[in-house]
Amino acid sequence: MHLEKSPIEKKPIIVAIDGPAASGKSTTARILADKLGYIYIDTGAMYRSVTLKALREGLLDDLRKDESGISRLLRTITIGFQGDRVILDGEDVTEAIRENQVSREVSFISSLKLVRDKLRELQQQMGRKRGIVMDGRDIGTVIFPDAELKIFLVADPAERAKRRHVELSLKAGGAAVPSLEELEAEIKQRDRDDEERTHAPLKRHPDAVLLDTSNMSIDEQVNVVHDLVMKIVGQS
Ligand code: CDP
Repeated sequence: MHLEKSPIEKKPIIVAIDGPAASGKSTTARILADKLGYIYIDTGAMYRSVTLKALREGLLDDLRKDESGISRLLRTITIGFQGDRVILDGEDVTEAIRENQVSREVSFISSLKLVRDKLRELQQQMGRKRGIVMDGRDIGTVIFPDAELKIFLVADPAERAKRRHVELSLKAGGAAVPSLEELEAEIKQRDRDDEERTHAPLKRHPDAVLLDTSNMSIDEQVNVVHDLVMKIVGQS
């Protein structure tokens, strides 16, 4: 029996979703990829994996003085995804990369040129067949400036702190989590660090569709992006 290919399969595209911390990128990207039958690539998880490895090897202090110390680590590192799981050098690090210490250091590690060069190469390789949803800070500007659909998600910092608080509280199962004020301060600091760095700073590509999710539900934001994809592949 011959099955007609859907427009999504005939013309696989790249959906690039960028935006600041806790703006809803990963949740939107994951659900959208699922709906489209696309592969989801969480580039933040890749930067977090490099950070975890650098922490485990005790490199952080030296790297602040001389970033070339990360070369050896980058030569041998392997980072991959198995469904929702993040695999670093063969080990499942999905939970470990969300720990506080990693969150505190990840903006520093991701400001290093050698790290960005390595991950750019890996990410471009992962997307070469298209049919992916990739989220991060520089996907539309640096990794895939030719992505057929670029989205820039924003939300106000207080709302983002609330979302992060709910997420952490659910995971903590009753254990203490940082206050809303602490989370908002941390989010604002990370936004500043990501926007002000020299290499691939967080910024909106002029073609990216700006979506403010402050007052949107997850379903609403997924639907908006899904409709845009359908328009591009000519299915609406
Ligand atoms: O915590 P949240 O989910 O918002 O962030 P993430 O997507 O896990 O990314 C963590 C950090 O990695 C960001 O704050 C950036 O410093 C860095 N990152 C980056 O520089 N470029 C990317 N494409 C993705 C993440």
